[in-house]
Amino acid sequence: MRHFLTIKDFSRDELLEIIDLARKIKLQMKKKKFVPYLERQTLGMIFEKSSTRTRVSFETGIYQLGGVGLFLSSNDIQLGRGEPMRDTARVISRMVDMVMIRTFEQYKIEEFANFSKVPVINGLTDSYHPVQIMTDYFTILELGIENPVVAYVGDGNNIANSWLMLSAKIGFELRVATPPKYSCSKEIVSTALEFAKESGAKISFYNEPKEAVKGADVVTTDTWVSMGQEDEKDERIKAFNGYIVDSNLMKLAKEDAIFLHCLPAYRGYEVSEEVFEAHAEEIFLEAENRLHTQKGIMVWLDNHREEDINE
Ligand code: CP
Ligand code: NVA
Repeated sequence: MRHFLTIKDFSRDELLEIIDLARKIKLQMKKKKFVPYLERQTLGMIFEKSSTRTRVSFETGIYQLGGVGLFLSSNDIQLGRGEPMRDTARVISRMVDMVMIRTFEQYKIEEFANFSKVPVINGLTDSYHPVQIMTDYFTILELGIENPVVAYVGDGNNIANSWLMLSAKIGFELRVATPPKYSCSKEIVSTALEFAKESGAKISFYNEPKEAVKGADVVTTDTWVSMGQEDEKDERIKAFNGYIVDSNLMKLAKEDAIFLHCLPAYRGYEVSEEVFEAHAEEIFLEAENRLHTQKGIMVWLDNHREEDINE
């Protein structure tokens, strides 16, 4: 049985297989063909943080695959009152067929997975947001950009870390520009650089957004204040001065460069209103693609569970 907790647990071929599956499922859906790959299955969806896209895309996705989604906010289940993750895992995974979790520390989702009888999907932790970056890559390919040069400008957060892992595994060029105090975790960078040796990915780091964006095919960013960091808001906004993706910065990228944002976006902070609206078509395609990519991930995980047919 496999879990989808971080991109680093997957080979290049497996990641591309998931993308192909997502593409096939999207195409089927556009032809109004809903194949019940996960008929009668239940997806438990545990949220310890807020969400719009992740909740709607997983819940709709499992329904379209013939199953049902169970929204479990930590405020409403005993997890929020202190029931351990491991006990929650041992209970829920005896009743549902797959679990998606959005939580804080990565170790929590790993603990859940260790005690789970069913596949677990990371719907965002403080360290990674792998389903989002798989979606972003799916969108880049769908827009006809092969072997992209991706420039990420902003906070060295869960989104940046996931870009690092995906670039390192797939082998495309990634440039990351962050203020020195908000760079990606050293451990994640060194793991990514190890994988990059194998895939041939060129990964480079900057403290100057202009250098990172020069000639890029894809420019992307994320909020400067992630969920759980609300107390640091003022300090962060000061530190990220100069990191806004605006038209002047976009001009340095390729003429037909695309701009992606995982959303929610804070205009006037990490992205200007002008850039956001000029690239709204790509950004909302990216948002829609959460649905298709995650359906690909769920079906792939279902295809890879070891089932005892005598049970
Ligand atoms: N991008 C993303 O995960 O959005 P939500 O926080 O709304 O789920
Ligand atoms: N980095 C952001 C991503 C939101 C989808 C956060 O963790 O809040």
